[in-house]
This record gives sequence, C-alpha cells and structure tokens, in this order.
Amino acid sequence: MEPLLKVDSLRTTYRRQGRTRTAVRGVSFVVHPGEVVGIVGESGSGKSTALMSVLGLLPPNAQVLSGRLLFNGTDLRTAGDAVLRTVRGRQIGLVPQRPMTSFSPVTRVRRQIRRLLRQHRADGATDIDAVIADMLRRVGLDGVAGRLDNYPHQFSGGQLQRLLVAVAAVGARPQLLFADEPTTTLDPTVAAQILRLLRDLRDELGLAIVFVSHDLRSVAQLCDRVYVMYAGDMVEEGDVRSIFDQPRHPYTRALLDAIPSRHTPREPMPVLAGSVSSLPEDRRGCSFAPRCPIAVGVCHEAVPHLLPAAGGRVACHRYPDGGWPPGDLPEDR
Ligand SMILES: Nc1ncnc2c1ncn2[C@@H]1O[C@H](COP(=O)(O)OP(=O)(O)OP(=O)(O)O)[C@@H](O)[C@H]1O
Ligand SMILES: [Mg+2]
Repeated sequence: MEPLLKVDSLRTTYRRQGRTRTAVRGVSFVVHPGEVVGIVGESGSGKSTALMSVLGLLPPNAQVLSGRLLFNGTDLRTAGDAVLRTVRGRQIGLVPQRPMTSFSPVTRVRRQIRRLLRQHRADGATDIDAVIADMLRRVGLDGVAGRLDNYPHQFSGGQLQRLLVAVAAVGARPQLLFADEPTTTLDPTVAAQILRLLRDLRDELGLAIVFVSHDLRSVAQLCDRVYVMYAGDMVEEGDVRSIFDQPRHPYTRALLDAIPSRHTPREPMPVLAGSVSSLPEDRRGCSFAPRCPIAVGVCHEAVPHLLPAAGGRVACHRYPDGGWPPGDLPEDR
C-alpha cells in the first residue's frame, strides 16, 4: 500500500543568537492510510519540529535544509504556499501542543469554531451550525452544544481540547491528523477520554494519525507503529508490540523502564540521567552515547544507521551482539 505521508531524510535547523543548531537530522518516517503512528522521545528531541516542517508551520528562524515531504505523492516542501494552504488543516489536521493558546479569550467559542471550519472544510459545507452539531454529537460533547456562545474561559481545559480534536479531526474531515502531545496538559481522566476519542475516530472514519507523546502508556494504547526519536534522530522503529516487548535500542529500553508501574522481566536499565544533550554540530558518534550505559568505543566514533531488526529497525552499534540480550552490561564503563 502506498503511504499517505512519506517523509524522507528531513533535516531542519534553527538559527538563534547567530548560531545554527540542527533540530532534526535527516529523519524518515511513513504513515499509511488509517494507521496510527506514534513518535516518542524526550523533550527537545525534535518531534514537533518534524511535524511542523511537514506542514510548513515553522517559525522564521527555522529552515528545512533538505528532505522530501511526500503527501499523497506531492512534495510539500517544494509545492508552494497555495498547495500547502489546501493541505494544512483540510487534508492534514493539527491538534497543536498548546491547545489553550488556540482559542482567543475574547471571542465566543462558536464564532471561533465556525471560522476554523470555514477555513478547513474542503467541501464548503454551507450549514456550518449543522456541521458543528453533528461534530459535537460524534465526539460526545452534545452537552456543551447549548453553551457555545460562551467564552473559552467558561469551558474546562478538557472540553476545549476535545473541541479542538473535534474540529481538526471530525469537522474538517482530513485524511491525516497530527496530534502533538494532545493529552500532556490534561488530568488522567480527560486524557483517557481524548485517547478513546482518537481511537474511535480512527475506527469509524479510517483517519490516519501521527500521535506525538512522551507518555509511552498512551502510545501503547493507541498506536500501531512507533518511532523513537532522540536528539533529532530516529533511533528505533517498530510495530507497537515489538517496541514494548522487545525494545532494541538502549534509549527505548530506558524510556520503557521509566514507566513506574511497568513490569520488566528483563534486567532494568539504570534510570536515565541527564537530558537530550546539546550536541556539537559535527558530532562523530551516536547521539545517545554520552548517556548510554552500554556504549563502547565505536559508539563515540561513528554515527549508527537505522538497520533492519526483527519487527522494525534500530540504529545501535551494539545491536544485536552487544548488550543484547540483556545481562551483559560492560564492567568498565
Ligand atoms: N523556535 C525555536 N528557536 C530555536 N530553537 C528551537 C525552536 N523551537 C525548538 N527549538 C529547538 O529544537 C529542538 C527540538 O525542539 P522540538 O520542540 O521540536 O522538540 P520536541 O521533541 O517537540 O520537544 P517537546 O516534547 O518539549 O515538545 C530543541 O533543541 C529546541 O530547543
Ligand atoms: Mg513538541
């Protein structure tokens, strides 16, 4: 099956205070129709930058240096603004990372939703209020239908977030939804509602979803396939079961072991210290090597490439022979 989205060797940099830093280092990923793909990784690994590069929504100090961004076969990088305007919001919906800032506090919610739907609904539906009513029913928000003439502060954060998912995923009827940490700021009950909603939308509408999160439990509940991103690189990719049952990259393993209630039959990875390092632009080795408990000489010398591994791909010099299966952590680190 042809992928809906095929991102190939995307490289994106930011310029700040006269220096250029690479946020996304040549990453590739694909999304098939109706598939839910997770992108996980710590804060600063480049997840949002990758998605915003696809949508052409980067700030002015950012630059996509190279890569192909094929959506339904069209390269969005070279397609020009007119094409991007028809794709953005209409064919690829976005639930942004900070939803509260998506609503203007001084405009009634119904007016804002109407405006978004007029912008994003490709079929030019004329009865917008009927579209809104249908949308609210579909996402289980009929209860707020009578209150849409209120201002945003009169709704709960969870209601606003569900309204945004509703507009982006249902009202606009896209083929693909980018959900960038849609549950991070919400309490667990509301987060669970949003996850259920996304899953239902996939099942009912065949919507493909890219779900960005650092919460691996949500990823396990929702996704078919997972990409693990670290410091601007994809370090592992696989179907959700193989990522959770047989993580191959030490970073993936550390992320999994950081889930408090997780039962780990394997020897637990030492808790990951530090953060996504500020890498030199001309790094020589694996980005994760400075934090990796099983790194050896080559890890500091050569950048590992993503290579096929059972059920997916992994970029680790120590796979499959070194440090795997677990139990042979080197003594001399
Ligand atoms: N507007 C910007 N200007 C300069 N650097 C930026 C900008 N936005 C992001 N960056 C840098 O790019 C890198 C990747 O950031 P990005 O926001 O894509 O990460 P993320 O994986 O989405 O993190 P989070 O989980 O916190 O959302 C980080 O080092 C970040 O500091
Ligand atoms: Mg982000």
